[in-house]
Amino acid sequence: MLEGKVALVTGAAKGIGKAIALALAADGAAVIVNYNGSKDRAEQTVEEIKALGADAMAYQCNVADTKAVDDMIKEIIRIYGRLDILVNNAGITRDNLIMKMTEEDFDAVINANLKGCFNTIKAVSRQMLKQRSGRIINITSVSGILGNAGQANYAASKAGIIGLTKTMARELASRGITVNAVAPGFVDTDMTQTLSDSIKAAATAQIPLGHFGRPEDIASMAAYLASEKASYITGQIISVDGGMAI
Ligand code: NAI
Repeated sequence: MLEGKVALVTGAAKGIGKAIALALAADGAAVIVNYNGSKDRAEQTVEEIKALGADAMAYQCNVADTKAVDDMIKEIIRIYGRLDILVNNAGITRDNLIMKMTEEDFDAVINANLKGCFNTIKAVSRQMLKQRSGRIINITSVSGILGNAGQANYAASKAGIIGLTKTMARELASRGITVNAVAPGFVDTDMTQTLSDSIKAAATAQIPLGHFGRPEDIASMAAYLASEKASYITGQIISVDGGMAI
C-alpha cells in the first residue's frame, strides 16, 4: 500500500511513535526513525522494521532545534530522493499546577511539542510542494481538546497543534498535501507509566470504553491517514480515546 513511499516518524524509538513506524513499514514504506536520546531503542526499532522487509534508518535530532531539523530533512532527501509522510509524534510532559509550573517547564514543553511540529512541517513543505503530494499527521492529545488540570503547558502545546493542523491543511491542500491530527486519550506507554495508581484509576473512570488504549490503536489510525484511502480527508482532528472526548 505504501510501497515506494518514504516516511519520517519523530520520537519513534518507543511508545506510540515506534508503533506508528512499524505500522507504516508493515504497509511497505521506508521509515526514518527519529530519536532524541534513546539511541539503542531507536536502533532496535530499525531492526524490527528491517525484519518486516522494509527499509529503515535511525536519525538523532531534537525536533525543537530548527537547524538540526533542517539538516535532518536535507539528509533524508539526499539519501532517499523524496519524503512522502511526516508523523509528528515526539512529545514530552512536565506536569504541574500553574502556581508551581516554572517558565522553563512551560517553554520546554511548548518547544518540543509545538515548535517541533512547526520546524518539521516547514522543513518538509518545500519537498512535498515540489512532489505535489504528501501526508502530514500530527499527534495531539485529548488534553488539547478538553484541557487537563496540571497540564497547562502540555494542553496549550497540544491545542496549538490543532490550530497548526487546520491552518497547514488550508495552506497545503491545493498541492495535494493532506494534514490531519490524531488525538489519543490515555495510552499505555512510558509517558503514562509515571502516573500514580490513583490518577490511573481516576483516568480510567473517565473512559467510556473502560481501559487505556494500546500504541497500536493510535498507529492504525496514523497508517490509515497516511494511506491512499484517506486522500479526501484533511484538516481533521480524529480522537482515538475510548470515547473520552465525546
Ligand atoms: P514516550 O515518552 O514513550 O515517547 C515519546 C518519544 O518522543 C520519546 O522517544 C522521546 O525521546 C521523544 N521525544 C521527546 N522530545 C523529543 C524531541 N525534542 N526531539 C525528538 N524526540 C523527542 O510517549 P508516548 O506516549 O509514546 O507519546 C507519543 C506522543 O503521543 C506524544 O506526542 C504524546 O504527547 C502523545 N500522547 C500520548 C498519550 C499517552 O497517553 N501516552 C496521550 C495523548 C497523546
